[in-house]
Amino acid sequence: MAKKRIVTATINGREEEFLCQPRQTLLEVLRDTLNLTGAKEGCSNGNCGACSVVIDGRAVNSCMILAMEAEGAEIETIEGLAPGDGLDPLQEAFLENAALQCGICTPGYIMAAKAFLDENPSPTEEEIRFAMAGNLCRCTGYDKIVRAIQQAAETRAEQSASCEKETV
Ligand code: FES
Ligand code: FES
Repeated sequence: MAKKRIVTATINGREEEFLCQPRQTLLEVLRDTLNLTGAKEGCSNGNCGACSVVIDGRAVNSCMILAMEAEGAEIETIEGLAPGDGLDPLQEAFLENAALQCGICTPGYIMAAKAFLDENPSPTEEEIRFAMAGNLCRCTGYDKIVRAIQQAAETRAEQSASCEKETV
């Protein structure tokens, strides 16, 4: 068996060191070693987006990269998204719009949407649909998910406007 490697990465704001086999994917290590089971294993071949996490600001299918490749990276998972005392606007919006049923796809959608809204805070519906094309949902239907992301974009804009007012 190949020798295990030590990898250091920042995960949800904390520096973590973990051991992994060279063949292990980041998804396996997140779920099986670090106990961060929010990212889900759907297809394991890059097609469904259920395993999406944010790495250095970009949404990435964690089943498609080796854990070793995460050395030095800033990784955000669904577990680190909510502030201590509540839910992130994306989580609120998914709940309010009933944008989930079984929920398997939901953490991946939310993390992919987070990376997208960080880049494009006021997207059109078409831009949302295009950006989310790598995430598949097999039970909810896509309209509710798109509406939830639109609502979250509005909430985030309101929150950043009120933060700006407070700092003036
Ligand atoms: S499990 Fe990674 S893309 Fe489907
Ligand atoms: S809510 Fe079931 S796959 Fe999306």
